[in-house]
Amino acid sequence: MQPLPREPRVTAAPRRSLPDLARWVTAALSVCACAALVSTAWGARSTSRGLAPALERGLAESFLAEMPGEFGGPPTTRGMQSVLSRRHDAGLRALALVDDSGAVLSLVGSLDRTPVAPPARSGGASLRHVGTRVRYLPPMLGPPRPPWEAHFPPGPPPPRMLLEFEPIMVRAAIAESDRTLALSVVLSSLLLIAAAWFWRRSVHGEDLDRRTIQQDRLAELGKMTAVIAHEIRNPLAALKGHAQLLAESLDEGTSTRSQADRIVNASTRLERLVRDLLDFVREGPVTRRPCDPAALVREVADELKLGVQIDATAGIPLLMLDERRLRLALSNLLQNAAQAGAKTVTVGIVYEAGMLSLEVSDDGAGIDPHDVESLFEPFVTKRTRGVGLGLAVVRRVAQIHGGSVSASNRAGGGALFTMLLQAPPASG
Ligand SMILES: Nc1ncnc2c1ncn2[C@@H]1O[C@H](COP(=O)(O)OP(=O)(O)OP(=O)(O)O)[C@@H](O)[C@H]1O
Ligand SMILES: [Mg+2]
Repeated sequence: MQPLPREPRVTAAPRRSLPDLARWVTAALSVCACAALVSTAWGARSTSRGLAPALERGLAESFLAEMPGEFGGPPTTRGMQSVLSRRHDAGLRALALVDDSGAVLSLVGSLDRTPVAPPARSGGASLRHVGTRVRYLPPMLGPPRPPWEAHFPPGPPPPRMLLEFEPIMVRAAIAESDRTLALSVVLSSLLLIAAAWFWRRSVHGEDLDRRTIQQDRLAELGKMTAVIAHEIRNPLAALKGHAQLLAESLDEGTSTRSQADRIVNASTRLERLVRDLLDFVREGPVTRRPCDPAALVREVADELKLGVQIDATAGIPLLMLDERRLRLALSNLLQNAAQAGAKTVTVGIVYEAGMLSLEVSDDGAGIDPHDVESLFEPFVTKRTRGVGLGLAVVRRVAQIHGGSVSASNRAGGGALFTMLLQAPPASG
């Protein structure tokens, strides 16, 4: 026999998404880049703050070095005034000659209100922040010595030159480093947000790929199943019919009769399986017709010979529903409740804003919370004689109606299945 040519395998081209490793590498690089950016900016800020006193001292000494000395005496007021106006733009605000008690002998510009402390005897020059300014005062003895002192006759130490200035450049540098730090924090936050967004998108993309592939496989499986189920149905009906005839022709209680009965039972089970499979894979348009949901639940319960309590809100109109499919879904939910050992089954029916909610609750064994999602997958069953298609059919019916179904456990024990269906009123 000539082998049939194999059909090319059809799979959806997966949407491109980064693999796990690339995602981790990107996240790690983003975090490292943020850390490097912020720590560099923080370092620059600390450095500019740490260098501020040295820069202020250098600035003061450069002012002092410009002071013209009179031969044999300290600078005159005119000389000091000329330096002050020349260096005003650089921040110089006041120059004063101070004696060893801190008394001001001559002054150009205006001093801050903070009282002048006497100069130190020796050691380095004092540098104090007064108001918005920096006050610089050299010690009585020792460096730094301004140029004019070279011409001083020996004797008591000459008066000291006090300087007050605004450290404009130093402050600008510190403000700039603060701005850089703030900017790098903002940029790092944006980078982290972008990395998190990228992560989410990439995970979401992979989920989508997985679901698309799964749906494709299910669709393929569905088509195959439909063909097989359809082909089995007719010979199975013939097998069951003949087995029934055979069983009826045999005497009850004999071993051959019980064997024939076993064939009938097995064919009945197979028939159900085939029917369930065809129900599950059946496609075709949704046929919405006016339907009374409470009456439908009653009918299904009666068909199954189950005592079901119906709890419907008043005034629900006739709704446009695919009655045949909804009947199937209800039948599966009610049978499941009975199979879970429920003594009482209640169906709550609420209609609000075009949505029909059907809540099937029971006091049976309940469901394992870990299984809640997987129960709706085809062929997932916890029963030895189950096929695992009932809840898959329920989900399909809900989706066909533009709705959803969810499962949970009731607080008092037992399971609760909620179907939400889009159901326009028949009159609308
Ligand atoms: N009301 C319920 N209470 C407790 N467990 C339930 C209930 N409904 C469904 N389940 C669990 O979910 C599983 C899947 O149900 P589903 O109807 O899909 O398949 P099944 O009943 O096992 O087989 P079948 O295809 O014959 O319906 C069941 O095996 C059962 O473990
Ligand atoms: Mg079932």
